[in-house]
Amino acid sequence: MSKHESITLNLNNKTTLPLEFKHATLGNPVIPIGPIAEQGVWLYDPGFKATASCESKITYINGAKGVLLHRGYPIEELANAKDFVSTAWLLLHGELPNEEEKHTFNQSLLEKMQLSDNILNACQVKEAHPMALLISALGQLAGETHDTRDYQNKADRHTAAIELMAKVPCMIAASLCDQDSRGIDFSLKEDTYAGQFLALIKGRSLKEEEQPLTKALDKIFILHADHEQNASTSTVRLAGSTGADPYAAIASGVAALWGKAHGGANEACLNMLETIGSVEHIEEYIAKAKDPEDNFRLMGFGHRVYKSYDPRATIMRETCHEVLHLVNAGNNPLFKLAMALEKVALEDDYFKSRNLYPNVDFYSGITLSALGIPKRFFTTLFALARTSG
Ligand code: SDX
Repeated sequence: MSKHESITLNLNNKTTLPLEFKHATLGNPVIPIGPIAEQGVWLYDPGFKATASCESKITYINGAKGVLLHRGYPIEELANAKDFVSTAWLLLHGELPNEEEKHTFNQSLLEKMQLSDNILNACQVKEAHPMALLISALGQLAGETHDTRDYQNKADRHTAAIELMAKVPCMIAASLCDQDSRGIDFSLKEDTYAGQFLALIKGRSLKEEEQPLTKALDKIFILHADHEQNASTSTVRLAGSTGADPYAAIASGVAALWGKAHGGANEACLNMLETIGSVEHIEEYIAKAKDPEDNFRLMGFGHRVYKSYDPRATIMRETCHEVLHLVNAGNNPLFKLAMALEKVALEDDYFKSRNLYPNVDFYSGITLSALGIPKRFFTTLFALARTSG
């Protein structure tokens, strides 16, 4: 927290401008730029690295200390003691749900987990990338509902929130089944949100011994639920600020999330590991990542905000180990390659001096692969979880 209460700006020795700080509950104070703009001077911050675009009580990140809070709750507490539906409720309502609220919310999601024929058709284009299909299916959902809603009305906004959280997993599952040349079976009924999604993509009811896998998937959703004003969240908010349909606004956020610098990193990370191929080639690719003339980047390393460890990566790494043990993939060559790459990079001064550590995407790709999710679908699962935030 800065020790100042205000600063005085001296403009060309002609004008002095006292600027009062606006203090946050947590984090840096900000300066409203109105008085500066009135002097004909603008701020330049293309990456929004030092710009607060809004006030929000939802998430706080301290990148230097590796802290991530949702409504004040540390991500470690939510990931290890709660479930995704409770976390989504917390993000939406500001407090964790009681048992009755959680049951009602969970049931309202499960009840809506099916799709109209038009949306199903939008999901079923075999050669299309799943993120492209999700964008078009969300557009179709906007088309089906727009004229029947008034989003000035809180109840309609709540309906949209529930519908988005319920339909997005169904859209993803429909595309995954179709690209696996199977239909989707909405008659399957599981009693948890993550379990219902897993059953839909597997096309069958879950076995008792698969419950730990459902728990791991649920934890992955918690870790990806929200992350302050990142690129995709900012995109959704910008689209929504014009009064655009909320489903269309989320579609714009899915488009932003697709980029490999952002949510697309998990798929890109697996592609990178497959390209590196074996431990023998690690040094060659580390050299490429360090070469300023080479645009190769180590996917899954570095972060816009975390200049220490991504706290989600710590939990994701543990979950990755759990899942690989559960599916007997401990000798998974890609995971062994990932661990060797992680070790080399963490010991290399180029990465250490630039605070480049494995982020959440480094481990989520390997974990999702071990869960049997095709890598082209990795970022759709990120979008599924982030829809709540
Ligand atoms: C997500 O914003 C969010 O909150 C995003 C997210 C969320 O939950 O919404 O956390 C999800 O997007 C995680 C990030 C996933 N992306 C990747 O893993 C892709 C690989 N990472 C890089 O593309 C990069 O690290 C970024 C885009 C994530 C951050 O880029 P920055 O802000 O430019 O990184 P930086 O300022 O810390 O870079 C400092 C130096 C630079 O070199 P120099 O100019 O000092 O010589 O480190 C270099 C960069 O070129 N660098 C890398 C690198 N990342 C940064 N060099 C090699 N490999 C990398 N991955």
